[in-house]
Amino acid sequence: MLTFLVRQAFSRPLRLAALASGVRQASALRAHPHATVRALGAACGEALQRRFGAEDARVVAGIEALRARASGSTERLRIDDYGAGAPDSTFTEAQMSAGRVVERTVGEACRASKKPTWAGLLWHLVREFQPERCVELGCCLGISACYQGHALRLNGARGRLWTLEGAPMLADVARRHIGEQGLQDRVEVVVGRFKDTLQGVLERNGPIDYAFIDGHHDEEATLRYFEQLLPHLAPRALLVFDDINWSDGMRRAWARLAADPRIQVSIDCGEVGVCAIDATIKDKLRVKIALA
Ligand SMILES: C[S@@+](CC[C@H](N)C(=O)[O-])C[C@H]1O[C@@H](n2cnc3c(N)ncnc32)[C@H](O)[C@@H]1O
Repeated sequence: MLTFLVRQAFSRPLRLAALASGVRQASALRAHPHATVRALGAACGEALQRRFGAEDARVVAGIEALRARASGSTERLRIDDYGAGAPDSTFTEAQMSAGRVVERTVGEACRASKKPTWAGLLWHLVREFQPERCVELGCCLGISACYQGHALRLNGARGRLWTLEGAPMLADVARRHIGEQGLQDRVEVVVGRFKDTLQGVLERNGPIDYAFIDGHHDEEATLRYFEQLLPHLAPRALLVFDDINWSDGMRRAWARLAADPRIQVSIDCGEVGVCAIDATIKDKLRVKIALA
C-alpha cells in the first residue's frame, strides 16, 4: 500500500514533466522551416494534448462507442495468425509463414486494437499530413482503420486506405465495422498474408503517401516490409511503425530505421515510431516525444 502511495505521489509530477517536455519538442517542430516537419510537430502536439476539433471529437466518440461494443462481444472467432506471437517467441520465418489457428472472442481480439492515445496520433497524422493513398498492415477488427478512414473522409480529398489482414474471420468483422461507420467506399480490407497481398496492393495503388505497419512484429519482417514499401512511396511519405519497443528485435528494427539515411525524420513516440521520407529535408532529424 505504501509503495502504491509513493508511486502515485511521484508518477503525476513525472507525467506532467514528460507532457511539458513533449509539448515543447512538438512546438519546436511546429516552428521548423520545412512544411513536412511542421505537420509532424502539429500532429504530435495535438495527440499529446488529446485535442480534437468539435466535429473530429464527435466522430472519434462514435468510433470509441464501436470499440466499447466490440470489447464486450462474446462472438467466437477462429483466427489464422501469421504474426510474431509474444515478445519472447522464437518462431522461425517458416513457422510464421505457415501460421497457426487460435480461438478468440471478438472482445479478446479487440485488445490488440490501438488504444485511443495511439489511434489519436494516427488521426492527427492523417489530418495534418493529408495523404491520399494509404496502406495499413494489420487490420484486426478495423478500429485503427476507422480512425484513419474517417480522418481521410474529413480531409475532404479522395483519400483511400487499403488495410491488410491475414485472418478471414477478423476481416469479416472489420468489414462490418467499416460498413457501420459508412466508410466502405474509402477503406478496403484485403485478406491474406502480407507476403501474398502487399506487393499487389502497392503495384495497383501506388505511389503510397502513408503506411501504418501494425502486424507481424518481427525484426526481419519489419525491415523487409520497409524495403518492400520504399520503391512504391510518393516523394513525400509517412511510415508509422507500431510496437517499436515490444521486443528486443523490434527495438533493433527501430534503431536501424531511425538511422537509415533514406528516412529524413524519425520520431520515437514510445510505443509508436513515425518516419518521414522527404528528400527536400536536408538535415536528418531524430526526435523523441513521449506520448504516453
Ligand atoms: C495488432 S493487430 C492490428 C490492430 C489494428 N491495426 C488496430 O489498431 O485496430 C495485428 C493484425 O495483423 C494481422 N497479421 C499479423 N501478421 C500478419 C501477416 N504476416 N499477414 C497478415 N496479417 C497479419 C493479425 O492477424 C492481426 O489481426
